[in-house]
Amino acid sequence: MTLTASSVVALTLLAGGFALVLLLQQSLIASLDTVASERAQVVASRAVGGNLGSTVTNTGSQNTLVQVVDSSNRVVAATSDIDGEGPMLVAPAERVTRVFNVDRLPAGDGPFRVIALPVRLPTGSGWIYVATSTNQVVSAVVNLASLFGIGLPLVLIVVVWALWRAVGQVIRPVDAIRRRASSIGGEDLSQRVPVPDTSDEIASLAVTMNDMLERLETASLRQRQFVGDASHELRSPLAALQVQVEVAIAHPEDPGSALVLANVEGQVARMAALIDDLLFLARGAEGAPRGPTRLVDLDDLVLSELRRLRELGGPAVELDGIRAARVVGSERDLARLLRNLGDNARHHAHSQVSIRLTTRENWAKIYVTDDGAGIQPQDRDRVFERFTRLDDARSRTARGGGAGVGLSIVRQIVRDHQGTITIRDRSDDHAGSVFLVCLPLAPEGGPSHP
Ligand SMILES: Nc1ncnc2c1ncn2[C@@H]1O[C@H](COP(=O)(O)OP(=O)(O)OP(=O)(O)O)[C@@H](O)[C@H]1O
Ligand SMILES: [Mg+2]
Repeated sequence: MTLTASSVVALTLLAGGFALVLLLQQSLIASLDTVASERAQVVASRAVGGNLGSTVTNTGSQNTLVQVVDSSNRVVAATSDIDGEGPMLVAPAERVTRVFNVDRLPAGDGPFRVIALPVRLPTGSGWIYVATSTNQVVSAVVNLASLFGIGLPLVLIVVVWALWRAVGQVIRPVDAIRRRASSIGGEDLSQRVPVPDTSDEIASLAVTMNDMLERLETASLRQRQFVGDASHELRSPLAALQVQVEVAIAHPEDPGSALVLANVEGQVARMAALIDDLLFLARGAEGAPRGPTRLVDLDDLVLSELRRLRELGGPAVELDGIRAARVVGSERDLARLLRNLGDNARHHAHSQVSIRLTTRENWAKIYVTDDGAGIQPQDRDRVFERFTRLDDARSRTARGGGAGVGLSIVRQIVRDHQGTITIRDRSDDHAGSVFLVCLPLAPEGGPSHP
């Protein structure tokens, strides 16, 4: 940055200095020419009147030399310092006033500007030559140029130094941030980059980076916890399986072995379902796209969930009202959502589960109600976290409770479909809980079935 800015400043100064010197030279020369041509006019008016001796009186600057020549370019009058010398110019061909640059003349210090003014003498046509030394112009220009030659590098040094300092001050915090950022590894995300004590873009960059690190740290912690919890969930059933299998191997002749095998099969099926759930959650954490989306008839899904729950037996399952409702989404995921809510309600219900599907404005509303113990208000957010189980271990085993991932899957699916889920008390003052899922209805004339 310093180099670029300094180069620009240097070029600008150089161009400016050059232009200034050129301008000075031109304006000095122009004023010399004006004075010379005035002098020529005065001499001319005298010559025309015939009152010009052989010597032209020297007025003003000694550096001005005057010659009057006749039609054959012979000197008929001149200032004393060039008296007796030949003409300073070859008479120009055209009879118009012109200016010439002449390096050397018999008198005075050159170089010279010579004005040739055509004049009509009493003896015929002639010329008046007025030469002015540009000596002083040259020295003025040289003086100015050398002043610039010394001054400009000095100015440039000051500019470079100031730029270097200013840029350094800006860069220093960036460098500190860079150094810290390069030392933050994948393992330890607890470090933060230093936030400079300014309120500029760099400070807000540091704050943004720290926010990002915070999010990364949280995500990484969640990821680790998920892996830990998942391993833990899988380890206990696997250990139980191992014991049963070992016993069966040790006593192959035992008629109970067949029973053990059936038991093992059930547990393997549950573990497979759990692994399936875990994979679903892991994919959600990666933000990976879900299955294909299309128009889904929620009422069909509700009816088949109802049928499934009734076939399982247990508490009575009733339909509390149903409306045609279409949403855009994944049929498989929405069925899974209903199944998880249905299973929970069935597990916790005392004697009755009811399901209701209504529509209101642009929303489909699914109510899954049971008459169980209900969920305390303070637990209503927590139950959607992964691996959260409210029932104590004993009652869980007694009821064959799950891993605590069902509701987090439900929440994931609801989010995927831009919907909401809430837990409420029953409106009829009975014990139990109501899960209310709101999903946006498919727009009229929206995408049709593929
Ligand atoms: N209808 C309900 N009534 C009372 N408590 C409930 C109800 N639904 C869920 N819960 C509580 O919320 C917890 C979390 O439910 P979630 O469905 O996530 O896990 P789970 O049913 O225990 O296991 P999984 O669904 O993974 O087999 C349950 O363990 C239970 O304590
Ligand atoms: Mg569940």
